[in-house]
Amino acid sequence: KKDTYIFGIETSCDETAAAIIKNGTEIVSSVVSSQIESHKRFGGVVPEIASRHHVEQIISVLNETLEQAGLTFSDMNAIAVTKGPGLVGALLIGVNAAKAIAFAHNLPLIGVHHIAGHIYANRLVKEMTFPLLSLVVSGGHTELVYMKEHGLFKVIGETRDDAAGEAYDKVARTLHLPYPGGPHIDRLAAEGQDIYGLPRVRLEEGSYDFSFSGLKSAVINTVHNAEQRGEIIIPENLAASFQASVVEVLTEKTVRAAKEYNVKQVLLSGGVAANKGLRAALEKAFDDLNNIDLVIPPLSLCTDNAAMIAAAGTVLYEQGKRDGMDMNGHPGLDI
Ligand code: KG4
Ligand code: ZN
Repeated sequence: KKDTYIFGIETSCDETAAAIIKNGTEIVSSVVSSQIESHKRFGGVVPEIASRHHVEQIISVLNETLEQAGLTFSDMNAIAVTKGPGLVGALLIGVNAAKAIAFAHNLPLIGVHHIAGHIYANRLVKEMTFPLLSLVVSGGHTELVYMKEHGLFKVIGETRDDAAGEAYDKVARTLHLPYPGGPHIDRLAAEGQDIYGLPRVRLEEGSYDFSFSGLKSAVINTVHNAEQRGEIIIPENLAASFQASVVEVLTEKTVRAAKEYNVKQVLLSGGVAANKGLRAALEKAFDDLNNIDLVIPPLSLCTDNAAMIAAAGTVLYEQGKRDGMDMNGHPGLDI
């Protein structure tokens, strides 16, 4: 059987990325150009700045990806690109680059859902065994996704307000930490103690949905109340208290869903999957569940990258799924 090479492109938010994946599981090359420095002084991603950076970076990222692999576009079987969800102006840079390459080299064009990409990052670590459950935790999403087979996604729970990463970033801002705040809170939390008695928001009994805005408000109130009383907040302890609440609820619901849905595998996905507290808590929880295999990708595959898009794109390619030259960017695409 001949090898399959899929070229992936990701520009949905603040990373311009491209990658080549061989046979759906092997990273041949992967390049990520981050814009974080440009957004830092605004405390978050500014859509217009993101679009401009993608325009400036895309050609060199594409070329570097081919150079690292020692391959050309004519060696590729298809071009896969994130078509949504994300910032529309940012998505359009990747989508149009992919269309241009597909047209010029007569290659099939495959649109990929960003969250499907995050889930398929795990396939670059280990072969997927179905049925499986993925906990998707990123800056824009917090979802429990059940998969019976390749390409079939069923959202069994999701956040009703803030995404986990969004809550991390907002809490970090309250503590005057730079954007993106997740890694900073994670680092502080390791040095602090869970002493602030923050709420664990579980919603109705049996629900797999999440809510983080109340927790975020509780953190802000804790800081304001302390300021009013002239008390000092220990950032390490507040970070540890916040993280303990997030990690406890995420872990608890993931374990319960994994058991109820009788899954063989649990995959951790998305930027917040880089969180040390969450990784450790899940490892501990699934240690006792011998019949469920927990997969946690390396940090570089947790945050946005194009290897995951090419990995998800390979499955769509093999299933014969194709997009036309009328493909668009979809800011609010459903999985
Ligand atoms: O998946 P991602 O790179 O972009 C989106 O698709 O949203 O996720 C970015 C999010 C940010 O909110 C960032 O603060 C969070 O992931 N993040 C973390 C950690 N590293 C990144 N959150 C908690 N702990 C971390 N170590
Ligand atoms: Zn993402």
